[in-house]
Amino acid sequence: MNILGIETSCDETSASIVRDGREILSNVVATSLKEHQKFGGIIPEIASRRQLEYINIVTAKALDDAGLTLADIDAIAVTRKPGLIGSLLVGITFAHSLGYALKKPVIDVDHIHAHIYANYLVPRGAARFATIYDELALPAVGLVVSGGHSTLFSIKNFREFRVIGQTRDDAAGEAYDKVGRILGLEYPGGPVIDRMANEANTAHASGVGLKTVTFPKADLAGSHDFSFSGVKTAVLYYVRKHAGTKDYSVAEVARGFQESVISVLAEKSIQACLRRKCRTLLVGGGVSANKGLRARLQALALGTGVNVSFPSLDLCMDNAAMVAGFAYVSARSSH
Ligand code: KG4
Ligand code: ZN
Repeated sequence: MNILGIETSCDETSASIVRDGREILSNVVATSLKEHQKFGGIIPEIASRRQLEYINIVTAKALDDAGLTLADIDAIAVTRKPGLIGSLLVGITFAHSLGYALKKPVIDVDHIHAHIYANYLVPRGAARFATIYDELALPAVGLVVSGGHSTLFSIKNFREFRVIGQTRDDAAGEAYDKVGRILGLEYPGGPVIDRMANEANTAHASGVGLKTVTFPKADLAGSHDFSFSGVKTAVLYYVRKHAGTKDYSVAEVARGFQESVISVLAEKSIQACLRRKCRTLLVGGGVSANKGLRARLQALALGTGVNVSFPSLDLCMDNAAMVAGFAYVSARSSH
């Protein structure tokens, strides 16, 4: 079964064809990110206008890359929510119109659940194809960390995602981007802070690190919830007080901030697995590309029996392959 996925929830316009819910035949992503950078955040009006311009082009390319035509498509999947309303509307209208014209079913998908599903996707012809559901067996705990969400799910099957924890204020990616702005870094701040933090870690490991900076961690003991606005404010006050002094180092602030965020994310996720006796942890969303988070989760999982999975780096960010793949399993009850 070939599903054409459409994703237009924010600044990415993506179309993808996924076979039988797992095998990516094509995955095309266009983005208007560069146009938003000078504003330090996404401008919804610009994003939705670009969605409109790109949607036909990326869909045509996705078919071409897969070596298929519209006649080979069995169903269409589209991100229904959450997202920017103008951006979402372009994808939803496009997908439903195409489905109507082709007389093919259209499956609406929740973007956040699709981020988790990205763990089950494999490249065309990959050897893991047959066994992936056994390797990442359900029930699982899911952690979605993106620009808009930081949520822990209990996942019984692909139709039942139960929220067991979420951020009480900023999403993890949002905190990264706001701290990036405080530090005068390029938007989005996440990847830049990650790189700087890793460089500072390497310097410390080889004994040439500067003075360590630490920020508070919001433990919210007894709860699976997160909170990231406190650490963001702590960074702001630190920068106001120390910027321009001889001890001040942007890389050390990045390292301290990253430590505060990833330690809480990693500890709470592993704790949730152990409490629920879940042996699978599925991580997804833009922040799951974070090197520090990946390493910390792997380290904490060691010896616990928990198998931690991350999508490949290109599938951490918004893409339509996760939408097409998730539509397949959510429309079938067997998984
Ligand atoms: O999932 P995504 O592409 O879009 C949403 O659905 O929000 O996530 C984008 C977010 C941004 O906030 C970006 O700063 C963050 O993911 N991000 C990262 C990294 N790469 C992207 N945050 C931390 N470390 C990274 N390496
Ligand atoms: Zn996303």
